[in-house]
Amino acid sequence: MQYYFAPMEGVTSAVYRRVHHRYFPGVDKYFTPFATPTVHPAFTPRQMRDLSPEQNAGVPTVPQLLTRSAADFIWAARALAEMGYGEVNLNLGCPSGTVVSKGKGSGFLAYPDELDCFLDAVFGAVGEQIQISVKTRLGVSDPAEFSPLLTIYNRYPIAELTIHPRVRADFYKGGVRESAFADALSKTDLPLCYNGDVTSAADAARVEQSYPAVGALMIGRGLIADPSLVTRLRGGAAADADTLHRFHDELLDCYTELFGSRKNAMLRMKELWFYHIHLFEGGEKLMKRLRKATELRDFEACSAEIFRTLQLRENVHPGWFRPAD
Ligand SMILES: Cc1cc2nc3c(=O)[nH]c(=O)nc-3n(C[C@H](O)[C@H](O)[C@H](O)COP(=O)(O)O)c2cc1C
Repeated sequence: MQYYFAPMEGVTSAVYRRVHHRYFPGVDKYFTPFATPTVHPAFTPRQMRDLSPEQNAGVPTVPQLLTRSAADFIWAARALAEMGYGEVNLNLGCPSGTVVSKGKGSGFLAYPDELDCFLDAVFGAVGEQIQISVKTRLGVSDPAEFSPLLTIYNRYPIAELTIHPRVRADFYKGGVRESAFADALSKTDLPLCYNGDVTSAADAARVEQSYPAVGALMIGRGLIADPSLVTRLRGGAAADADTLHRFHDELLDCYTELFGSRKNAMLRMKELWFYHIHLFEGGEKLMKRLRKATELRDFEACSAEIFRTLQLRENVHPGWFRPAD
């Protein structure tokens, strides 16, 4: 089984990926949060801070693009191939209103004929230069949409199809739609990756046993919550509090350097704590204090107290970090 770190905008930036890879080895691929190419055929300096090979040196990285324009995808995929990337991923899953209203991300799934033309154009133009993988939801509002979508995907040499078995209308709420995923397995020969709600070794084992045809498992929130989850899946040790503390402080330093502001770095770290706190027993009170901290010294004192005084849980409790559950 291959293990991938899911892309998470605002969370899994190049800094995070580099530091994570050094502390917690075992992830086979890190997907970048989506970059949106425009008609202007060059990545912006901001995009390059995440995509440039220097930023990703030594880290197995797959850039992700979000667009419904074949022309924009094509120049961007060529540029990425020239930078040395062997794979580019197409985002057909993002549920955010601003993305979907432009017919991008999971919004593109509402236009199967246009999607078919898009795939035809991009595979024809750059399919020989770079592998193209796809990350998709089951549809916009009904999982029955997936069967015709899969018929389209099956026409193209998609390097790997990652399926997040929810529809756009689900956002991240409720359980994953397992039966729709199981149904899809028998209808495609494409290499498949499963993504959704895996937060423990037991969850990963269940996916492996239930779907032997699946070659890869992509994990997002569960891996932010427990950064050593994949290391553990590979037979390594769970992280101890001291290692987690050093990982945390190194991230804080790296973000401070990147943003030129320790306060902004603190805000970024709070995004991580939203998931990470659920690895600790009884973290609610300290999390409240940490969230409210406006001064860095309060934030650092609070995080140090979490690492020093709270017991690490064996597994993150999944229900805890799904806001809608
Ligand atoms: C804050 C946040 C940001 C995300 N950003 C992206 C993104 O840039 N590209 C993408 O394909 N998916 C994105 N996702 C979806 C995740 O990659 C993943 O599919 C989702 O969290 C379900 O997997 P999980 O249950 O393992 O977290 C994001 C999810 C969250 C919660």
